[in-house]
Amino acid sequence: MNNDDFIDKTLELSKRINIGFVKKFVVFDTLPSANSKAKELVKDGEVEGTVVITQMQKSGRGRFNRRWESPDGGLYLSIILKPDVSPDKITLLPLVAALAVSTTISNQGLSSTIKWPNDIRVHKKKIAGILLESDVNENQLRHVILGIGVNLNIDVNLFSSELKDSVTSLLHELHTVVDYHKFLENLLLSFDTYYAMFLNEEFDCIISEWKMLSDTLDRRVKIVTSSDEIIGKAYDVDKSGFLLVRTDSGEQKKIMSGDCLYFNEL
Ligand code: BTN
Repeated sequence: MNNDDFIDKTLELSKRINIGFVKKFVVFDTLPSANSKAKELVKDGEVEGTVVITQMQKSGRGRFNRRWESPDGGLYLSIILKPDVSPDKITLLPLVAALAVSTTISNQGLSSTIKWPNDIRVHKKKIAGILLESDVNENQLRHVILGIGVNLNIDVNLFSSELKDSVTSLLHELHTVVDYHKFLENLLLSFDTYYAMFLNEEFDCIISEWKMLSDTLDRRVKIVTSSDEIIGKAYDVDKSGFLLVRTDSGEQKKIMSGDCLYFNEL
């Protein structure tokens, strides 16, 4: 799709759709990073429900300051959210987004799993990721930028050699091009459902749906955090989305954030 078509079709979609949380689309052909643009916009007072969409990113960002390779054909969006919840609930939002993405991919006839907290995978390869950046001041949540990247119609040969073996795309798995705008609409609809659950404080429901799609529990994992490395069996996820791990010495650890590696895939 050329740039003008992309922008026209995306703006057309924004006029047609009626999705609870979506207030407006801001559309670009290329950005350094949709999350960075959303941060700029929110500083200028942009409202909750603004969805920043770009056809390509030049400096897409992933978790732990990693690069998010963003070739043409992928879906890159960032949503500005200002949920009226206490800041300690925000850790659940990446799980909410992962549920929405995984469900949308499944509706394309491709079953996916979630690796804690929010890596979406197909056949053990990453197909989508979520980056949540929040601004909390004096225990008051100002805003959250929820970035979602989906490897939609990407030829996997476009990924760098370091990444090629560990990622996949819908195009690669389904052997057919997925309608970008239909997928985008379904993703936003699905996110709307789970976000409403989140705002209604149906946290148990979110966790139990997440557990059904996740393949992390009952696994032997290695969690790498900024200060530590924890090895053990992942046995549960609590109400905040924290991972509970029982180490070999029987200690129970509650992990808020970290890189989760599966032992049988190391
Ligand atoms: C990860 O799994 O490491 C998170 C990847 C998040 C990528 C998305 S693409 C849209 C938004 N803008 C960014 O720079 N990153 C997120």
